[in-house]
Amino acid sequence: MTDDTLNVRAEEARSQLVYELISGASGLCLAVFMWGHMVLVGSILFGARGFDWLAGGLEDYYIAQPTVIFIIVLFLVHAVFASRKIPAQLRERKQMIRLARDLRESGSSRPVPGSDYVPFRPHVESMLWIWQVRTGMVILVLGSFHLVLLGLDVFTPMFGMHRGIESATTLARVSGGLWPLYAVLLLCVEFHAGVGLYRLAVKWGVGARLSRAALWKIEHVLFWIILGLGILTLVVLAGWLDPPLAFLLEAAP
Ligand code: HEM
Repeated sequence: MTDDTLNVRAEEARSQLVYELISGASGLCLAVFMWGHMVLVGSILFGARGFDWLAGGLEDYYIAQPTVIFIIVLFLVHAVFASRKIPAQLRERKQMIRLARDLRESGSSRPVPGSDYVPFRPHVESMLWIWQVRTGMVILVLGSFHLVLLGLDVFTPMFGMHRGIESATTLARVSGGLWPLYAVLLLCVEFHAGVGLYRLAVKWGVGARLSRAALWKIEHVLFWIILGLGILTLVVLAGWLDPPLAFLLEAAP
């Protein structure tokens, strides 16, 4: 192999490493932000007063405005660099669908005596990656819609009584018809972020002393806790349940 080829290969490998670091780091930041976001939206469990107090504070101290811009940029950077791994050609997509079907059926099919048919061995990690891609695509559409809506809330008086996030507007929108969209987005983000963090830990050897099974268990616990909090928050936002912690603020002046 000539030196030129070696240099080209080395250059290619370096840029792939940089892309991997960008998609991983942006995914990690987004996942950590999503945990914080769950607490922020979860303030509705304390009622409209709790929600408006927190949202108002974040806007009055100019924390919300730059955060919205930063998350939009991070979201787009992650989508661009992470989606380099998504099969682009239709032929490749069809192959991925076939692989997903074979993996789904794997474990149930048996070798056929006298034929050279070899059944697919179950491979959870490959199945996780396929669903990582699928949930990523859903988040790209629904997440973009949500980010535009929140951007309009924070920077324009288009919705509600004034510029800024208001519980009255959010409650009206979610109960008025957006709850199915947020239910799908919640499930996709929690799955995608959870599996993403697990894959990052495995990929970069984080918690190297922990086995994959242990890392997978931690991911499962986090997934169900955050999903549970998310579903409770969505049920309150949709108006199906009164804010369970509102009584704590009733006593407050
Ligand atoms: C709230 C939004 C999102 C969060 C929290 C998030 C989080 C993550 C994390 C933590 C990873 C693991 C990184 C790695 O394996 O290197 C990841 C991977 C990935 N994400 Fe996202 N992501 C989000 C949105 C998106 C969007 C909008 C897309 C659009 C296509 C996307 C596509 C992907 C893909 C394809 C991978 C796998 C990359 C690989 O195998 O290296 N993600 N995501």
